[in-house]
Amino acid sequence: MTSPLSNKWVLITGASSGFGAAAARAFARAGARLLLGARREERLEAVSEEARLAGSPAALFHALDVARTDSVEAFASWVRTKTDRVDVLINNAGGAHGLDPVANGKDEDWEAMLQSNVLGVLRVTRAILPLMTGHPGSYILNIGSVAGHTAYEGGAAYCAAKAGELQITRALRLELCGTGVRVGTVDPGLAETEFSLVRFKGDSARAKKVYEGAVPLRADDVAEALVWAASRPPHVCIDEMIVKCTDQAEVYKIHRRTGNKV
Ligand SMILES: NC(=O)c1ccc[n+]([C@@H]2O[C@H](COP(=O)([O-])OP(=O)(O)OC[C@H]3O[C@@H](n4cnc5c(N)ncnc54)[C@H](OP(=O)(O)O)[C@@H]3O)[C@@H](O)[C@H]2O)c1
Repeated sequence: MTSPLSNKWVLITGASSGFGAAAARAFARAGARLLLGARREERLEAVSEEARLAGSPAALFHALDVARTDSVEAFASWVRTKTDRVDVLINNAGGAHGLDPVANGKDEDWEAMLQSNVLGVLRVTRAILPLMTGHPGSYILNIGSVAGHTAYEGGAAYCAAKAGELQITRALRLELCGTGVRVGTVDPGLAETEFSLVRFKGDSARAKKVYEGAVPLRADDVAEALVWAASRPPHVCIDEMIVKCTDQAEVYKIHRRTGNKV
């Protein structure tokens, strides 16, 4: 049986690591053609090679910084040289910077989080939407977070950013109703990627502690959820999906085994 994603054009932002890289491999296995973006091009090159080996008929990549309109526009121009339609747009680029309470918050951290998680989603969607409208069944899937649903100490700006992403998703769903373009958000909880390493600015010991004693989600778990959502027939829209590991009942309620035994 041919996959519903066979030869579809899937654009993934933040494809150089974590969920984005896993999604590239998972959509490749489903036979999709890929347009991959992120800032680290050498990483993108490796991911696109893996995607080709996994079965993608075209795994193409280009530098992209979603925090800059000129970079998003250049990326969109490059996309238009490859295809006149995008079937699935995955707005995944983003992440957290710091875990400081508001009283000690850093402008550069707040700005980076709002630039990538909020403005990045808006910029990329605006630039790519003309390649999606006119193609009923195309799908915008944003990556949110449980942080967009529940606040936690030290997470003010990140929670605000992901709550913003959720509301952008909902507004777009309303704006595009009647066009056949689907819009949804996949909101993961605790997942072991480079997320915590980035949040703690390369402090790997502190990053490791985030997952200590628990069994977090793997990037592949989220990638599979994305492939599943994108494989539904055109009349089905998965609006909002929360995916958490079994050990996480709430943002701050995580079962951890003692002695680091998992
Ligand atoms: N891991 C979790 O626990 C978790 C839970 C819920 C939601 N999320 C969200 O899931 C998404 C992916 O995160 P991840 O867990 O896979 O972390 P990750 O491994 O750190 O991946 C983040 C990706 O985003 C890209 N990125 C960041 N800023 C960017 C920018 N300005 N322009 C272009 N690309 C940018 C990075 O690429 P470059 O650095 O190469 O640009 C990288 O490919 C993020 O939106 C994150 O907020 C993560």
